[in-house]
Amino acid sequence: MKRVSVGKLYEFACKALMHYGMNAGDAEVTARTLVTTDTFGVLSHGTKNLCQYIQKIQAGGIDPKAKPAILREGPAWAILDGKRAMGMVSACRGMALAVEKARKTGIAYVGVRNSCHFGAAGYYANLAAAQGMIGIAMSNADPNMAIPGSRDVAIGNNPFSFAVPVRSGESIFLDIALSNVAALKVVMAKERGEQVPLGWLIDDQGVPTTDPSGFPHDSHLLPMAAHKGYGLAVMVESLAGLLTGAGMLGEVSSWNLNLASPNNAGHAFIAIDCAQMMPPERFGDRVEQMARELHDAPKGQGTEKIFLPGEMEWAKRRKALEEDAIELTQAMADSLIKLSGMCGIPLE
Ligand SMILES: NC(=O)c1ccc[n+]([C@@H]2O[C@H](COP(=O)([O-])OP(=O)(O)OC[C@H]3O[C@@H](n4cnc5c(N)ncnc54)[C@H](O)[C@@H]3O)[C@@H](O)[C@H]2O)c1
Repeated sequence: MKRVSVGKLYEFACKALMHYGMNAGDAEVTARTLVTTDTFGVLSHGTKNLCQYIQKIQAGGIDPKAKPAILREGPAWAILDGKRAMGMVSACRGMALAVEKARKTGIAYVGVRNSCHFGAAGYYANLAAAQGMIGIAMSNADPNMAIPGSRDVAIGNNPFSFAVPVRSGESIFLDIALSNVAALKVVMAKERGEQVPLGWLIDDQGVPTTDPSGFPHDSHLLPMAAHKGYGLAVMVESLAGLLTGAGMLGEVSSWNLNLASPNNAGHAFIAIDCAQMMPPERFGDRVEQMARELHDAPKGQGTEKIFLPGEMEWAKRRKALEEDAIELTQAMADSLIKLSGMCGIPLE
């Protein structure tokens, strides 16, 4: 299988989730999050992981029927208890609540505890941008990254995203993990028997290495931009883990290696209602001016086009929707076929 229809993939994901006990509304929220992520070309964090989320439901680490609930709140903030629900369900609820509150107060923060891996942070930041707000979304993760001076993992590569609304509907958005590279890229180099660039890994003595052969046991990811990525990872940990009462650092367990345990990740969502701070027309004009000026930066040798954050993803999404097709990676095809076999629901 090389390609799959966007619509059919969405239907398949909904049916599979309902087969394992989720109600139709939550299944749609989860499927929409994962399939939209696929259309953006972030195939590592979309429906490829659905099979493992469902295995986590089967093992008891996710409660497909849980209803996240507000634990505490003020006019411009809330803490949600995810109650071990699917991460996408808690996270969408978290950003929706931040947007609802920001509509009244101009800006709002919602923290989520007792959640699970939420996939790609960008989807949630874009929920706010679709409502004309600047959205910020982040999550902590189980420690998979060393920090300057350490010789073992100490913190997650905590994903961070922001999205700024643009009149065209295609936001400016950055969606990144705070490690220098995704673990998947190291694994791919390891499988090909290749060395990796310096700055990606340290060995188990804390010495920089280009040898990925022992990854992840004998070598560890490094933060992006050294101390700067480390510092940002601590900021995400503080807003998503510490302040929410979620698991913090080593209290977050691997969502896919410990299927029976709750992941206990935390998330943070911030929505800023631009229209309250500046007339929408003027905001729209200024965003376009910023985009124009960035696009028009003098190009370096060999560069044909300068991109805004998120621009490549929007182009991929447009193509996927126009062709009603997502090109599958082998890992994604294998995982979807496995899930189809498990639940007896055909993919096409
Ligand atoms: N849930 C979790 O625990 C978890 C953990 C880690 C990562 N993630 C997700 O993994 C995904 C991949 O993260 P990553 O760090 O590998 O991303 P990446 O390094 O591929 O960077 C992607 C971002 O950089 C922007 N970008 C790339 N090249 C650009 C250019 N030339 N000009 C302008 N912008 C450019 C893209 O538009 C996009 O916003 C993200 O969706 C992230 O949320 C999730």
